[in-house]
Amino acid sequence: NVFDTPQDAAKSLAAEVAALIRSRSAENKQVVLGLATGATPLPFYAELIRLHKEEGLSFANVVSFNLDEYCGLPHEHKESYWYFMHQNLFNHIDIKPENVNLPSGMLADADIPAHCAAYEQKIKDCGGIDLQILGIGRTGHIGFNEPGSDDTTITRQVHLDDLTITDAAPAFGGKENVPATAITMGVATIMGARKVALMAWGDKKASIVQKAVEGPVTIDVAASYLQKHPNASFYLDSAAAADL
Ligand code: GLP
Repeated sequence: NVFDTPQDAAKSLAAEVAALIRSRSAENKQVVLGLATGATPLPFYAELIRLHKEEGLSFANVVSFNLDEYCGLPHEHKESYWYFMHQNLFNHIDIKPENVNLPSGMLADADIPAHCAAYEQKIKDCGGIDLQILGIGRTGHIGFNEPGSDDTTITRQVHLDDLTITDAAPAFGGKENVPATAITMGVATIMGARKVALMAWGDKKASIVQKAVEGPVTIDVAASYLQKHPNASFYLDSAAAADL
């Protein structure tokens, strides 16, 4: 789906999400959303907040699982994904705090495998992810599934690619301050979602979007595995779609 602007794309996707939330709510059922961070989903979250404030969209029946979190950052760190999600979405809507799930960034290495296994199990116990929201990194990563992540990977600790660290450096005030590792859902976790919606904006994403959509399905571009997903859509602005 190609739109003139990120705002148009974000509005269209937010309308779909609102329809899903409302139809489940009418049946007294929960919706499980997989959520993403980064600059890309910001207009989408702004539109969800608008729908909540101006059109009465309630998130009381929403359970959320975030894709990833940096290792070593406490909740109050401004670059932690916990902080990002509360600042840009959760603090402005009526989602129940107990329904919000993010990987923990503050575990000792030895405790991470059990935490990751419990995260996977909790997703299963909630009935699986109905809709997974994604951005895409310039390495082709979804979540933090860097090149080398195949479609059997599940939630785990990963090392960040040098390009990812370079892209994150300005926000952290230098490459040396960017965490070296993160916890991320795996490609298999993402592929397990019933529907996947990936957003990308701007000419910097055009080349990796082209590889993900039209290139071979390869371990070198995690987003290329979405070609095998039965219900995955890309929401692009015209700049990000320029190489298609
Ligand atoms: C980060 C996140 C990804 C995100 C990507 C792109 O590394 N872990 O989930 O999609 O960066 O970020 P941006 O949307 O800021 O371009």
